[in-house]
This record gives sequence, C-alpha cells and structure tokens, in this order.
Amino acid sequence: MKLLLGDLLDFTDDPSKTGLDAVRYLPDGALLIDDQGRIADRGAASDLQSKVSSSVPVYDYRGKLIIPGMIDTHVHYPQTPMIAAYGEQLLTWLTEHAFPTEEAFADYDHAAGVAETFLNELVRNGTTTALVFGTVHPQSVDAFFDKAQERNLRMICGKVMMDRNCPDALKDTAETSYAESKALIDKWHGKDRLQYAVTPRFAPTSTPEQLDACKRLLEEYPTVYMHTHTSENKKECEWVGELFPESSDYIDVYQQAGLLRRRSVLAHGIHLCDRELHALADHKCALAHCPTSNLFIGSGLFPLKRIREHNIHVGMGTDVGAGTSFSMLQTYNEAYKVQQLQGEKLSAYEGLYLATLGGARALDLEGTIGQLETGCEADLVVLDPEATDLMRFRMQHLRSEDVHEKLFALMMLGDDRAIRATWIMGENQHNR
Ligand code: GUN
Ligand code: ZN
Repeated sequence: MKLLLGDLLDFTDDPSKTGLDAVRYLPDGALLIDDQGRIADRGAASDLQSKVSSSVPVYDYRGKLIIPGMIDTHVHYPQTPMIAAYGEQLLTWLTEHAFPTEEAFADYDHAAGVAETFLNELVRNGTTTALVFGTVHPQSVDAFFDKAQERNLRMICGKVMMDRNCPDALKDTAETSYAESKALIDKWHGKDRLQYAVTPRFAPTSTPEQLDACKRLLEEYPTVYMHTHTSENKKECEWVGELFPESSDYIDVYQQAGLLRRRSVLAHGIHLCDRELHALADHKCALAHCPTSNLFIGSGLFPLKRIREHNIHVGMGTDVGAGTSFSMLQTYNEAYKVQQLQGEKLSAYEGLYLATLGGARALDLEGTIGQLETGCEADLVVLDPEATDLMRFRMQHLRSEDVHEKLFALMMLGDDRAIRATWIMGENQHNR
C-alpha cells in the first residue's frame, strides 16, 4: 500500500455534455494504492490518513494536482527521429520524410533504441497509454512491446499493413500482412498490459484484398483494435475517390471493407460529410483529434462541434512525427486555438477530459484507466502549476480561486516541465 496526497482532479463524464457536474475536484485529497498497482480508495487526505496504518508510505504532493495518466490516441513511434521536418503537406511529407525514416525499422536494434527514446518522452510528458503505429516490419512491433513491457506500460501497437503506393522496402502483401499480424496478435495481445491494433496505414496504401485481410483478422480476434487514418488532407481525399470508385466516400471504403466497429480508431477526420459521421457513430468508432499535426502539415481544422453533435467518441492524439509535441498539454493548447479559429471554445476541463476519460472511452478502456477511481489502474500524473518562472508569476495573478482559471493557464503554458511525477501501475517512474 501507498498513499499519495494532493489536489485530485478527474472526470466522471464529458463536461461538454453534462457541464461542471462532470468535473470532480477534491483539494487536499488522497489516493490509496494497493500492492497490485490499483487505486484502492480515494477521499479527503485527513480521512484516508486516519484510516491507514502509519507504516504506509506517504508521497506528499500537496499544492499540486493529481490527475489520471494522459492518453495519446494516435502517435507513430518510428517517426520520432524525424519530428519537425520542414516544408511539406501530407502526401509529399510521407514520401520525403516519413517513408525514408521508417525503412530503418527493418533492424530490431534500431527499432528498440527508438522505442526506448519514445517511451521516455511519453512518460516525461505524463502520457501513460498510447495507441501507436509501428512500421511494416513485424520486428518494429516486437521491439516496441519489449520496451513497453519492461516498463509495465499499458500500450496498444500494431504492424503497418501497406501493399501499394509506397517504396518497395516498405511493402507487404495481403497474405504476408495477414500472417505477420496474426502471429503478432497471438504473441502480444493481452500479454501484461499490451494490446494489438490491426493497422492498415490508410486507404491509399492498401488494396481491397489487403483490407479484406484486415477484416478477417478483426473477425478472428474480436478484442483487437483497428487503427488507421482518414480524411486528413484534401488531396488525400481526392486520391481515395480515384482509387476506390465504387465507394461513395472515404469512410465508405472502410465501411464496405467491414473495418468499422467499437475499437476502430481513425486519426483526423477533418473533411468528413454527414453521411460519414453517421456511419462512424452507428459503428461506435472513435476519431483521434491531432491538432499540432493538422496545423503543422496544413491539413485543416477539426470540426469538433459537428463531431460531438453526432455523438462520436473523440480522443486527442499527438500524431508525432507530423505532430510537433509529445505533450498532451501542448496538444490541448493547439486544440484550443483550432476551436477559436472556428468561433468555438474548448475549456480546459473539456481538454483535460479528452486527454484522460475521453481518451479511455475512445479506446474502450473506461473503468481500467482514465479516472482516479477505485479499481482503476494507478497510472497517475502530478502536475505542478508553478513549474516555470512564468507559470509561477501567472499563478500569482489569477483573478479568482476558480480551478478552471488555474488549470487553463497551466495547460496553455505547461509542457514536460509541468509534469512533476508520473506513476505507472502504482510505481513512480518519473520525477522532475
Ligand atoms: N496518413 C497516412 N500515413 C500517415 C502518417 O504517417 N502520418 C499522418 N499524419 N498521416 C498519415
Ligand atoms: Zn498519423
């Protein structure tokens, strides 16, 4: 057992739907963590301290915020070496920057080294779960899961399936991609805290035969994820129309292929029509909103209001390496501006919800992660509102005691420096 003291902040529902009732703020609170790494109890610090034996170790984060570990619902670990690459939009960015970088992952040792760097960045930034692209090479997924397992992280990853419109060195076939994915599922899915995602890169790089192989995998393994991209860039959308003339729109390609269901997570979804939004909602799919990427490679503005009106699950993603930061705080900063440009507001509560319980719901992991709730895995982050000179100065000039004002400034100004500590399954893995 161990006891963590601090100001607890999490969500019981989506604050964009149920307002402040969804926000659970408990100043001077405490979390009791059991020896399996789960949350055993929560409450006022004075109450919990009097309940537990004085021999239970106490971690004193008073004055700081304790939140659930953050969840990145779309990111590419192999693109870490080329984050912040100059000049291109999606299709040329892929051929100029992403594909050449991914070729090196044929080598397990290279992949393992990058996975190590990537996971360090996640944990330093308070991200404790992510839905992650590998490369086409099965060894890229072995390397990633080996490193995630060493740290007991809850991670979801998959081998890219890609059998056309890419360099030969990154090409598989419908049959090899099926067989290699199947072997990886058998090896990794459900092992410790690891889960597998069937990962067709996006419609343009898969033949209909390969999409059918994806469908067969999803039918054989009902609990694996489906992870892909959709409707990110206008030229991409036109190209999909040319490649799949029998489909009425982009989402219809995946729909006809039988790839839409709960646990299907599609990144971006910027240029979708109402029919496509209805289809995503009907099939209980989730969209990953990736604002730093959408602005960096000039893709467009995510229409969050419309997506919410359709009751589609939404999480936030960094989409590194098209995304420019591993920080979910900085990702919220950009998401806020994306909504400003559309005349909408995204409160800090809504942003932190998306980064925690919203992400857990998008990944169908509510009740396991994403909340400071009894029985949940103790993946926790301690946020320091006074992490930098500027943040400390700003906190001295808040206009009220309102937690939202403090949280908003923290999330706008904060990054990895605001992550005072990260706890993984009840173990302290990062301190600053
Ligand atoms: N669409 C297909 N592949 C990719 C990728 O690697 N990154 C992004 N942002 N979009 C994609
Ligand atoms: Zn992506």
